[in-house]
Amino acid sequence: MTNETKNIPLHVSLIMDGNGRWAKERGKERVYGHFEGVSSVRACVEAAVENGVRYLSLFAFSEENWNRPDDEVTTLMGLMVKAMADEMDSLDRNGVRFVVLGNRQKLGAQLNETIDACMARTQSNETLTLIIFLSYSGKWDILQAAQRMALELLDNPEKRETVENMSVADFDQYLVTAGFPDPDLIVRTSGEHRLSNYLLWQGAYSEFYFTETLWPDFRKDDFRKALESFAKRDRRYGKVK
Ligand code: IPE
Ligand code: IPE
Ligand code: MG
Repeated sequence: MTNETKNIPLHVSLIMDGNGRWAKERGKERVYGHFEGVSSVRACVEAAVENGVRYLSLFAFSEENWNRPDDEVTTLMGLMVKAMADEMDSLDRNGVRFVVLGNRQKLGAQLNETIDACMARTQSNETLTLIIFLSYSGKWDILQAAQRMALELLDNPEKRETVENMSVADFDQYLVTAGFPDPDLIVRTSGEHRLSNYLLWQGAYSEFYFTETLWPDFRKDDFRKALESFAKRDRRYGKVK
């Protein structure tokens, strides 16, 4: 069966939530849940490849997450560098193109250098595009798009007509996700039923799947269950079928 007949989403996006609660249940520090969560990322990348998903994106750190205690933020940033360094050989070997999207200016030099190296190394891979949303929020993305557009217009007033005639697809080009498909399926773990300022624009017609499972427990079977649920959805896009 082709992916189309099996109704496999082109782009699956995961809001990885519940690491702190997972650790707390075990009487451990919150960061222990973040460490274990890396294994869930590995499992989901494998499951995405096995099931023919072409784009997998992960909400790894929101703009609001900068407001967490300093030691948790520092540990998380260190974990990002380590996980990228540890996983890159395997990702590259398996044809994964690695991309980071978000407010890169807020990330430290070491993390930015690691990201640049991983993105450059894997840029021609075609099996799966893995997008990590880091220091990302939906409102920030829409705001930076509007700011860039406004600055372009200030520099080139003759563009006024272009802006007046702008389409949704034209505006898409200013978002950090330009060139990537919108998510077909957004999964959130840990029993929370909210977007937490994630892909506000791009998620306009996404299907949602919520599970009580905490992120460090979310593995291949859970990913497959989300795909099964998606396969049964009837997406109407406002039309009558
Ligand atoms: C998700 O787990 C990881 C990040 C948001 C960085 P949490 O750290 O939010 O875990 P809970 O929700 O407090 O259990
Ligand atoms: C959302 O989780 C952000 C990420 C998964 C990176 P949070 O744990 O930060 O969300 P809230 O605070 O419960 O809404
Ligand atoms: Mg949380």
